[in-house]
Amino acid sequence: MENQFNTNIYQNRCSTNSNFKIKKGFLWGAASAAYQVEGCVNEEGRGKSIWDYYLNEKQLGGLGVTGDVSINFYDRNQYLEDIQLLKKVKINCYRFSISWPRIIPDGLGPVNMKAVEHYRRFIADLKAAGISSLVTLYHWDMPLALANKGGWENRDSIDWFNYYAQIIFTHFSDLIQDFVLINEPSVEVAQNILAKRYLAGNFDNTALPVIATSETMEVSLKSYNHILLAAAKAKESFRAGGYKGRLGMALPLSPILTDTNASAADKADAKIADGVLNRWFLDAIYKGQYPEDILSLVKSMNIDIGVQAEDAKTIQNAQFEFLGINFYAPNYVRHGKGPGYNPETFIPVGQDAAFNGPVRPDQLTALLDRIRTEYGNPTVLITENGAGFPGEDQLINGKVEDTKRSNYIQLHIEAMILSMQRGSNIDGYMVWSSHDNLEWFSGYKSRFGMIYVDWQTQKRTIKQSAYLYSNIIKEKR
Ligand code: NOJ
Repeated sequence: MENQFNTNIYQNRCSTNSNFKIKKGFLWGAASAAYQVEGCVNEEGRGKSIWDYYLNEKQLGGLGVTGDVSINFYDRNQYLEDIQLLKKVKINCYRFSISWPRIIPDGLGPVNMKAVEHYRRFIADLKAAGISSLVTLYHWDMPLALANKGGWENRDSIDWFNYYAQIIFTHFSDLIQDFVLINEPSVEVAQNILAKRYLAGNFDNTALPVIATSETMEVSLKSYNHILLAAAKAKESFRAGGYKGRLGMALPLSPILTDTNASAADKADAKIADGVLNRWFLDAIYKGQYPEDILSLVKSMNIDIGVQAEDAKTIQNAQFEFLGINFYAPNYVRHGKGPGYNPETFIPVGQDAAFNGPVRPDQLTALLDRIRTEYGNPTVLITENGAGFPGEDQLINGKVEDTKRSNYIQLHIEAMILSMQRGSNIDGYMVWSSHDNLEWFSGYKSRFGMIYVDWQTQKRTIKQSAYLYSNIIKEKR
């Protein structure tokens, strides 16, 4: 691939920082998700998902923002071209998600074999280009029929997901080694909470409530528990079916930081924020118990989150083979208004920030070190890492010089390697995202791709960051 950019500065820094050899078979990849890229929403018997309702029917992403076309990735003519670009970037793994409403249009009924065939062909096409598939079963596109029955708030969702997962295992486990069961539970639940606010006409409160607050605690923890149990049950079905492969979830883990002059109330809220965002998931998966401080907070709030005595043990017993981590940024937390737990997030003055928060690669190292030392050094896949910066992606004279993203990727790979040198057990790293795509409620404004997409013409342009990433892969492989 012809490199039009000077990416040597990054490459040199990477090589001088570490002589550490990354193990053979390490997955160097890029990621995407069905609804964000596929378009073709009426093709081959696809059912509606909650996102068609949010964006097409309710216009919650703004006028004209829908997933109807996106980057047209469901279209084989288009994706074959894209696979050639990915091959040029030299990734050896592509993480993508299968659309539940394509496979089972109404969520629980018969299987749509056209969709099964599509994804099998896609996997084969990737393989022909030397790229393995990391398949996500669920990346937020809940079939509308099931969302209408309460979605993850309904305990029956454990069985709905298990039904879908069994269908995926039946039709794909001969081709697939690694499955990500469910992507970013806490962010999905937060998106749904935000949608409810919008639908109630409250557009003042547009910040994504990333960390559960007192107001959202009941819905959040109840849904998290069901999601974890759904993944555990699917894992059990996989085992019972005698399939071979590795299963895990992709969690948006994020260190919680406070300001240097934090008060006791700030620190208390930060500890709880860490409890609901990080420990709630990690303690269940690796310790078989939900964190005591969060359970006693729930008790003092007098809310019913529906957790049953054995739930956390069931989750631990699933023994996921890997932990998927989606890392973008730490969260700075301080105490908001009123008494009791009420955190708000902020970005410290002078702190460099991307769309998804402060740029702090050192916090990726800290997070990975924590997983190693506090949770028994499980196998980790970095299932997402990446960034978008306001105004950065400009196509000028056929080039997109996304220097900030390039720098971000470089620094985070170094941060990961540092933790690997200390003993962390990391098997792969995926950039979010391969292409610019539909960023949920933010629509098409927030670009995260290493490949630029012209929304009008669908023309692709490989960005500087892809050349850089390609250099790193070449050097580290
Ligand atoms: C995490 C989500 O999994 C993905 O869907 C989203 O586009 C990226 N973060 C960027 O915000």
